Amino acid sequence: MPAIVIVGAQWGDEGKGKIVDIFTERADMVVRYGGGPNAGHTLVVGDEKLVVRLVPSGVLRKDVACVLGQGMVIDPRSLVSELDDLEKRGVSAEQRLVVSDRAHAILPYHVTIDGLREQGRGAIGTTKRGVGPCYEDKVARRGIVLGAFRDPARLRDLVGRALEGWAPVIASLGGTAPSVEQVLETLEPTRARMVKMLAATQPLVERAIKAKKKVVLEGAQGTLLDVDHGTYPFVTSSTPTAGGACVGVGIGPSRIDEVIGLVKAYTTRVGGGPFPTELHDEVGNRIRKIGAEFGSVTGRPRRTGWLDLPALRYAVSVNGLDGLALTKLDVLTGLSEVEACVAYDTPSGRTRDFPIDELDRAKPVLKKLRGWTEELGKARSMEELPLAARDYVRFIEDEAECPLVLASIGPRRDETIVLRDPFAG
Ligand code: IMP
Repeated sequence: MPAIVIVGAQWGDEGKGKIVDIFTERADMVVRYGGGPNAGHTLVVGDEKLVVRLVPSGVLRKDVACVLGQGMVIDPRSLVSELDDLEKRGVSAEQRLVVSDRAHAILPYHVTIDGLREQGRGAIGTTKRGVGPCYEDKVARRGIVLGAFRDPARLRDLVGRALEGWAPVIASLGGTAPSVEQVLETLEPTRARMVKMLAATQPLVERAIKAKKKVVLEGAQGTLLDVDHGTYPFVTSSTPTAGGACVGVGIGPSRIDEVIGLVKAYTTRVGGGPFPTELHDEVGNRIRKIGAEFGSVTGRPRRTGWLDLPALRYAVSVNGLDGLALTKLDVLTGLSEVEACVAYDTPSGRTRDFPIDELDRAKPVLKKLRGWTEELGKARSMEELPLAARDYVRFIEDEAECPLVLASIGPRRDETIVLRDPFAG
């Protein structure tokens, strides 16, 4: 099983860091295929926690090659500062990291525009890292690929042309556009280092897959934030779903052996947009507190709610999921009852489908299940879980019509029940 895709099955923050780390134990290469510094995962280095946004979760494994694919948008300053932070903690990642020379650069004016728009009426609660405006430039064919960093004269020309387009927009939003000189000055301190990391990553990944190397294609964000398949317009500007891995890396669908979806035992969302199973009560607060549900990039409290099974079925369908990795099951410990949405009542009747275009008019139909009070962290097999927790897991598998490959029952690495390792055998 050489190439697997790992995607978020909800609105992101499903706990990818830990699970990708577990799956990369046997991997040769880990590749991020989309998004940018809007993602955030917490790495534990020794006793210290470190939040990384761009480098893949597999970075701590010294034998694993790390690749940032061309579907990504990369802020050179963020990347270099992450690498410096890792280096300070004894992790030398720069030599093992290859960055696509066709990935697009997030430049200071992208961040300015994202921030200014978020102050206005069109705000959707972005991470303000410039991700949306950078993808806009890419699609408008005036973006700047990182390969342009190799040629300062070309870079100057491209920045000038991009600013011609953006300066009136920035002014109309009440901001001041930087000059070409100012933009280039912010890039110069990192330019040479960036250039050293650049390469054509598509053939690298294709070659690794052909040579039967074990490759993890690491998604960022989640299915419901996908620009095509998510809760538009409250979405990110990339394609986090499994198909995005093919486009963002440059491999054909036939090269992918398995797609694993990460799903939290409940639901969270950051930023605006519909969230039908959201809880505004003590249970919601409790999940937020126990699950440490605060944004790792922005620190924002995440909205919390019950598991949405029609949404999960939708994610199984859109991504073609072969298996589910269930995370944060332990966060529900101590609740006398656990609820989950099994269907929706919509103006056109009851449906088990996810009514993505009428979420604001759809009412979740909730099913109550027995809760459990026993700590889960020590269990190493499903049989060692309390019966009610086991019932909940089985219920999720049945409703999602997708088998579980793993259950995470605590933040530590060993607090995990692995049912099937896609790289085994
Ligand atoms: P952007 O990606 O910064 O443009 O933000 C667009 C939407 O996606 C906002 O609702 C963000 O909160 C959300 N978003 C972006 N990245 C993540 C993530 O990694 N986890 C959860 N939500 C995210």
